[in-house]
Amino acid sequence: MRLLFTLTALVYNTAAIQYPLSFLSSNNDPALSINSFIDNLSQDLSDFEISSLNDNDIAYYKQIEPSNWPIDLEQYSTDFVIRLFDWIDTDDDIPFYQSTLSLIKEQQNIKIWDSSLASKFIDIQLNKDMAQYLLTELSSQYKFNYKLLLNNLPQTIFETYPQSQLSSLEEEENDDFITNSELFFKTYRDIDSIYAWFDLLVNTYPDILSIEYIGNTFEGRPMKALRLSVHSDSKSNEIKTVVITGGIHAREWISVSTTCYILFQLLQDYENGKVSVIRYLENLDFLFLPLMNPDGYTYTWTNERLWRKNKQQTFNPRCQGIDIDHSFDFHFTSGIESPCSDDYPGESVFEALESYNWDNYLNETKHSHPIYAYIDLHSYAQEVLYPYAYSCDILPRDEENLLELAYGLSQSIRLKSGKYYQIFKACQDKGADLLPSMGSGSALDYMYHNKAYWAFVLKLRDSGTHGFLLPSKYITPVGKEIYSSIKYFAAFLLSDK
Ligand SMILES: *[C@@H]1O[C@H](CO)[C@@H](O)[C@H](O)[C@H]1NC(C)=O
Ligand SMILES: *[C@@H]1O[C@H](CO)[C@@H](O)[C@H](O)[C@H]1NC(C)=O
Ligand SMILES: [Zn+2]
Repeated sequence: MRLLFTLTALVYNTAAIQYPLSFLSSNNDPALSINSFIDNLSQDLSDFEISSLNDNDIAYYKQIEPSNWPIDLEQYSTDFVIRLFDWIDTDDDIPFYQSTLSLIKEQQNIKIWDSSLASKFIDIQLNKDMAQYLLTELSSQYKFNYKLLLNNLPQTIFETYPQSQLSSLEEEENDDFITNSELFFKTYRDIDSIYAWFDLLVNTYPDILSIEYIGNTFEGRPMKALRLSVHSDSKSNEIKTVVITGGIHAREWISVSTTCYILFQLLQDYENGKVSVIRYLENLDFLFLPLMNPDGYTYTWTNERLWRKNKQQTFNPRCQGIDIDHSFDFHFTSGIESPCSDDYPGESVFEALESYNWDNYLNETKHSHPIYAYIDLHSYAQEVLYPYAYSCDILPRDEENLLELAYGLSQSIRLKSGKYYQIFKACQDKGADLLPSMGSGSALDYMYHNKAYWAFVLKLRDSGTHGFLLPSKYITPVGKEIYSSIKYFAAFLLSDK
């Protein structure tokens, strides 16, 4: 309790806080239930995991030679993912959300997966000792609930990589790999497969599809986008562009596959003469950037599945990576987060090369290809977020229509798959008014403020069962539900003109 008090007081310079006695513990002893929760974490799950695997395609990672693992899986063997949720705040206390996130950010070995003030959850990855420490510390001051989300990270991570049994080589020799979405979207794909797929698509649809080079990353990889335009070049400056980006956070693989899926489905429906899609494409251009963070994405395939930032060197030799999504110039803040933090924005605007390249590309193309609308795909939590991210104090322009559109996006998803996506202002979701660094310099605000009339973030599935480690069998279902919302979006943009 002392420690937490000191830290939060230090960070937020909050004087004399009194904790109501009623909060300090009650009828059932929190220490007892924390201990039993921690005991549960240590159960050996290997027997259970093996017996529960009835799908022959999925192996148990320990049955496979470590040299054949996609990455070192033992690095996750002592970690768990738990959710803190349904906390109760009182007026005279530092809000649980603020206090907890500040405490966590002080700890090198607790990692935040996702958090939402609006949905009231904080998901964190940590080992048993840290769980014991954190839960004990927090429960001395707050009433909140907690539960285990993932108890076998190595296996869950292992299952997100293509399984060797699928013999991806065989598929790639087959043309169906490209033209049959069933195959391409059967597993997640690494950067080489995705760029190879780009090339084949452009060869297949040379009249309407082209590769745009956005720039190079710190490690020298190209950032490539695909422009889908059924117009002659001479008309392109009259046609408004809808931009869809994914993968700004490396570990959010479902955002990458979904961006590709939307592109693929538009092409298919256009080719098959679907009237509504022909109308969208005759009136709008689309620009797809599925890999906003090629270095980070590559790193999740070769070293650390849960990497979030890019791979740029910072001033601290021990900590790499800038969070591209805090690097844009609209309400950028620096000096709050350390280079070791997953939210590190860099020292100055556009220090992340990916955000600089993107800004540069948009400048160069703003007359030839004016942008009208922007959707940035992330995971996870199933949410539709609208501007602003940096603060709730300022009203976005045309808020009534933004909200109507957000509800429409969510509803079209629900009608397609039954999945419910909650709608929030991005600042409410992140709690930017409590923790300003959470909402600063975002791609959403930058695009909305400077570049696109309409702008949204979609946080895709799921709502916490697998988090970033969504199994590949959901690639197509998520692709379908988001494609449905993109068609709604296009219809709205056209009726709006
Ligand atoms: C520990 O595990 C048992 C059996 O799975 C479960 O019933 C119990 O609720 C768990 N305890 C806690 C505190 O999570
Ligand atoms: C893009 O244009 C804006 C506005 O003119 C300018 O401030 C910015 O520096 C430009 N970005 C690049 C990368 O040239
Ligand atoms: Zn994200």
